[in-house]
Amino acid sequence: CGIVGYVGPRQAQSVVVEGLRRLEYRGYDSAGIALVDGGRVATAKKAGKLANLEKELADHPLPESTTGIGHTRWATHGPPTNANAHPHLGATRRVALVHNGIIENFTALRTELEDSGHELLSDTDTEVAARLLELELLAGGDLTTAMQATCRRLEGAFTLVAVDGLDPSRVVAARRNSPLVVGIGDGENFLGSDVAAFIEHTREALELGQDQVVTITRKGVAVTDFDGTPVEGRRYHVDWDLSAAEKDGHDWFMRKEIHEQPRAVADSLLGRRAPNGELQLDEVRLSDEDLRDIDKVIIVACGTSFYAGMVAKYAIEHWCRIPVEVELASEFRYRDPILTPYTLVVAISQSGETADTLQAIRHARAQRSWVLAICNTNGSTIPRESDAVLYTHAGPEIGVASTKGFLTQLVACYLLALYLAQVKGTRYGEEIADVLDQLEAIPGHLERVLEQREHVYELARRHVGARSVLFLGRHAGYPVALEGALKLKELAYLHAEGFAAGELKHGPIALVEDGMPVLCVVPPRGRDQLHDKMISGIQEVRARGAHTICLAEEGDESITAYADELVRLPRVPVLLQPLVAVVPLQLFACELATVMGHDVDQPRNLAKSVTVE
Ligand code: G6P
Repeated sequence: CGIVGYVGPRQAQSVVVEGLRRLEYRGYDSAGIALVDGGRVATAKKAGKLANLEKELADHPLPESTTGIGHTRWATHGPPTNANAHPHLGATRRVALVHNGIIENFTALRTELEDSGHELLSDTDTEVAARLLELELLAGGDLTTAMQATCRRLEGAFTLVAVDGLDPSRVVAARRNSPLVVGIGDGENFLGSDVAAFIEHTREALELGQDQVVTITRKGVAVTDFDGTPVEGRRYHVDWDLSAAEKDGHDWFMRKEIHEQPRAVADSLLGRRAPNGELQLDEVRLSDEDLRDIDKVIIVACGTSFYAGMVAKYAIEHWCRIPVEVELASEFRYRDPILTPYTLVVAISQSGETADTLQAIRHARAQRSWVLAICNTNGSTIPRESDAVLYTHAGPEIGVASTKGFLTQLVACYLLALYLAQVKGTRYGEEIADVLDQLEAIPGHLERVLEQREHVYELARRHVGARSVLFLGRHAGYPVALEGALKLKELAYLHAEGFAAGELKHGPIALVEDGMPVLCVVPPRGRDQLHDKMISGIQEVRARGAHTICLAEEGDESITAYADELVRLPRVPVLLQPLVAVVPLQLFACELATVMGHDVDQPRNLAKSVTVE
């Protein structure tokens, strides 16, 4: 979501709407604004793109005001409707609040409010925060202390920005695990999800730390922790131009999205553990009885999403002992697949609009099978036409080639697999909790992989002249090899192929020639022989002149003799390795294509969502 706040001498409406336009890439399924006006807040909000809000403001102008906040939404709780759009108001309409993130203990807080007689108007976790904030304010103090008190009660990730109708002098915001920056002007100050929100007004910015509350007035900026103790924010100068600002200083949205992956994975894991430690997938809407009866899973998807499905097969079969088929959506219905009311069809689609996948689920539902969508776009067609949905929380993905979309799909697939195992009782609670712990460590691992970016870019630049590139993997690393090759095809227009390393000797090895780059996803060392078998495969291509670029876990010294180049991966179990192994391959393709002068965000002949069969 995109968030803007303003206080100063200008008309807040135009500053806020302009800021929202610059942030619209962060979400565009609804937008809203709140202005402080003579003792109350005036709001306008509209489902759909920002243009709808602008039309609403033109038709029904809000009063003039120099203090305001705004929001452009990427729906998480509740569909993108006018009622669910931000800002949300307190019960007496004194406080207006916008929010980005997910409040994990929202259900408990909502119940508490309802039990004490509050009637909530929307399905959102944001309204719960707005109500709490207003109750704190009515109990005494000012908006700043009320915000501190409210934040002490919230769990999860959030950025909150609020105004008090009785106090036009300030806008107050808070941040935990979700982005927020302050723009420092002369006699005016700004808030934004990122600097794009205010870069045309000021280039002086203040970065907030975790668990901080900031109050902006015309005269200044004050930062505290959630307990009210003053703290210092980090001040910096932004020297990007406008387009770089939207990309957070990166040259491409894709590169930005690659770097957002630790956050996206963390967001997709939020709120999944019930207080008793069990895995909960509230939004899935299929009963445990129905899930227990499932005797076969068929995954349908296209492109990158299909490779996430391939990884899911390894996870579901291993943890749940249910047979899984993975099928290209475009092939599925034409081969007369065997579907029964005990089949669960899982459709994976970042956009939720891919026509091939949509037709596949229509076919499955016509055969009375259950359909569950794994999707990143709230309210899109595929989840709407499915029996159940598991949303990923990658935020909008702009680059045509999927990156954070893929990683969050993997997370959703693991969660679904673990959930099925929990319901069917094929795994013990401790084992499931153990995997959840390992998943929760992934964002930290991803940060470490991203720290090696310069090394990977350097490797990519060295292979700019390559005519053809091979990718090898085994087990869950096999789909990673396929995805690495797809990224290179999509972005660098290079001939690239991914193979299961064991299959090499049955044909593909004939392709290997002197100097050909071969990227090898090396499985972690374990009890099985996967790792050693992979090394044999690497030796075979090397003996035929291949230039091997190996992705292998830290501490794996046996690989060094066979790797012309080496990228280190954090140590994770083989089933989870795709989450960390795919990132260097994304960086590799992005950099190679950049050096070749291609448009990385919009590669030729491709589209972000393909709505024709
Ligand atoms: C298009 C995109 C791919 C994407 C595929 C599936 O071909 O270019 O990047 O993987 O569609 O998209 P979906 O939105 O269904 O995941």
